[in-house]
Amino acid sequence: MPQVSSERIKDFVTLFGGDITAAHAALDQYQKETLAPSLVSHASPPPGETIISVQNISKKYKLGKQTVTALHDVTFSIGKGEFVAITGASGSGKSTLLQIVGCLDKPTTGKVIVESKETTNLSDNALSELRQKAIGFIFQSFYLQPFLRLDDNLAVPAMFTTEKKKVTDAKVEQLLQRVGLLERARHFPNELSGGQIQRAAIARALINNPRIILADEPTGNLDSTNSQSIIDLFRAIRDTLGTTIIVVTHDAAIARQADRVIELRDGAVV
Ligand SMILES: Nc1ncnc2c1ncn2[C@@H]1O[C@H](COP(=O)(O)OP(=O)(O)OP(=O)(O)O)[C@@H](O)[C@H]1O
Ligand SMILES: [Mg+2]
Repeated sequence: MPQVSSERIKDFVTLFGGDITAAHAALDQYQKETLAPSLVSHASPPPGETIISVQNISKKYKLGKQTVTALHDVTFSIGKGEFVAITGASGSGKSTLLQIVGCLDKPTTGKVIVESKETTNLSDNALSELRQKAIGFIFQSFYLQPFLRLDDNLAVPAMFTTEKKKVTDAKVEQLLQRVGLLERARHFPNELSGGQIQRAAIARALINNPRIILADEPTGNLDSTNSQSIIDLFRAIRDTLGTTIIVVTHDAAIARQADRVIELRDGAVV
């Protein structure tokens, strides 16, 4: 982070009528919010183990005679335990990219490597297994099932594994506790607030202990307090479990809190 010169600090203190503490607090805030390195778009992670590598991918959709290029020559890698935000205008390719990283869709050209496996070469079965074991999804289209109570909703992804029901039940309880919804375990989604539903979706994404979490606009439709609590939850998950977290957001205040921002413009990394 750039250093502030002593001259500038003096100016700041004068600006604050000589109140050194207030001036320092304002400077700290300014440095965090305005000069944070995560504001810069970087395609390379800090040194460490790479968990995801996207190499020269493109994605084209054919609609009759028209071809839409959603992604164009996108390359980046993500380190284990990183918390990365993907930003960009509507239509810039964020969701398409997240679907490809999550092996829900294939690129038209290029390679995606997740945990040393080249996903473009894997069979459908191997891809399902990778998705189930390694990745937790928080996508709008996979929100909670309206006809299941909260605890049952959380258990759904574990039902496709060989885990014993007792083990799953204990995990569900632990996760509900973690996201502050234990008292709501037997409630249906329509009895919860938007922020609570989003926290429950995060808890559900964690049930199979994924090493990677992919979230598409997890704070969409939430006010700033609820958005902040979602981001705090992601950071806590990353800090305690070492989970790699990729969040698509158009909210600059959220992107600023990530370790790194990857910005897309017209399907390319800026
Ligand atoms: N299934 C599809 N068929 C055709 N075009 C598509 C399809 N999915 C996405 N696109 C196009 O690809 C481009 C990128 O879409 P994408 O959904 O990835 O954008 P986004 O950055 O997630 O936008 P938003 O912020 O609005 O969610 C858009 O021009 C979109 O119209
Ligand atoms: Mg989108």
